[in-house]
Parts: sequence; C-alpha cells; structure tokens
Amino acid sequence: MTVVLSPSILAADFSCLADDVKRLEQSGIKDLHLDVMDGHFVSNITFGIDLIKHLRPKTKMNFDAHLMVTNPDALLDGLKEAGVNSVAVHVEACKHLYHTVETINKLGMQGGVVLNPSTNFESLKYMAEDNIIKKVLVMSVEPGFGGQAYLPMSTKKIKDLANWKDENNYNFIIQVDGGINLNNIQTVVDAGATDIVIGSSIFKHRELEKNVADFRKLLNL
Ligand code: DX5
Ligand code: ZN
Repeated sequence: MTVVLSPSILAADFSCLADDVKRLEQSGIKDLHLDVMDGHFVSNITFGIDLIKHLRPKTKMNFDAHLMVTNPDALLDGLKEAGVNSVAVHVEACKHLYHTVETINKLGMQGGVVLNPSTNFESLKYMAEDNIIKKVLVMSVEPGFGGQAYLPMSTKKIKDLANWKDENNYNFIIQVDGGINLNNIQTVVDAGATDIVIGSSIFKHRELEKNVADFRKLLNL
C-alpha cells in the first residue's frame, strides 16, 4: 500500500498561501489537507469556503477538508462548489453521522469520519458495513492547533483500527493527523496508517521542498 503525504496548510504562511501551495505541488504533493475551524468546535479559527474557492484554480492537487466545526452539514454544498474532493467530519460534531457522510458521498466527494483521541471507532461498525465511510481519520493530538506533540496512545489505536478493518474487509483509508514528524512517521505507517497529515514538520523553517524530500526519503517514496 502506497503512503500518501497530506500537508496541512494550517502551518503555511497565509500571507503567501498560493506560493506555498504551488511549492508543495512542485514537490510532487498530490493531496492538500484543509483544516476548517470555526472557533466553536475548537477554539481556533482558520478559514472557510471562500479561501478554498480562491485556492482551487491555483493547483490541481486533491483538496481534503477536515471540518472542525459545530455544524458541518451547513458547509457541504459550498465545499462541493468550491472544488473540494474529500470531506472528513468529526464523530463528536455530528448529530446524524450516517446522514452527513452519506450526503458528502452523494455530492460526489469522499466522505470520511474523524475520531478525537478519546473517541472509539467501534460505533462506526454499521456505517462501515454499508461501505459509506471512505476514510477514518485518527486524531493523534486534540484538534485545534498545529505544532502539538503526538499522543503515544495513537499508535495502538491505529493498529487496532487497522486490524478491525482487515478482519471485516472494510476498505476505508486510515489517515492520521497531529504531531507527525521524521521521528514518528515510520511508527504510524507500520501501525497501518496510509495517509499522513503533516503540518509544522512540512513547513519547518519554510524549507518546504527539503522537508517533503526528507519524508519521502525516509519512507522510500
Ligand atoms: C489540528 C489539525 C492538523 C494540524 C496538524 O487540529 O487537524 O491537521 O494542522 O499539524 P501538526 O502536524 O503541526 O501537528
Ligand atoms: Zn487536520
């Protein structure tokens, strides 16, 4: 299984965002992680649909939205219109999770679910049986801010999720997000994550090309 690196623009310099996005694309990155935060579900505020709309013509990369908002349903049509390819919603934010994920898929995007560190994955069983979950994102920090330390418990959680997926022949992607760096990326890949979100470690010292290359080299990508 090939590993995908998904840089999060949360760590970018927003005053020259289009340039940073172009640099990532020129480094061979295919997937861009977009952290939408509303100041309610998490205390931080980032950006919304309008910024995504303006970024869309600047790159061909897949847009992967991670919604840290209290009302994800209200954003889905707009995200589709803005050209987003996949949308992951927090289990903790959705009153009717099945419906929300199904709506994302029906709009022609890939529907994913996100689990906070303290949230179990077992409640996803019936949704997984219906094959509507395209991705499960395991948060390896509490959501809201970049630059936090990886929570060690996440490794076991990814392993358990990967085993559960294999035992039941589910085919969702396992993504991990938070505190990933050159010292722990191999651990999460070995545990079973195939899509790795990286914020600060990709934008470190603003050496985007070098940082991407370092991750690639380490993983033999
Ligand atoms: C945190 C966000 C992450 C964040 C990761 O709530 O979901 O995507 O940007 O940043 P790092 O890699 O710095 O932990
Ligand atoms: Zn994220």
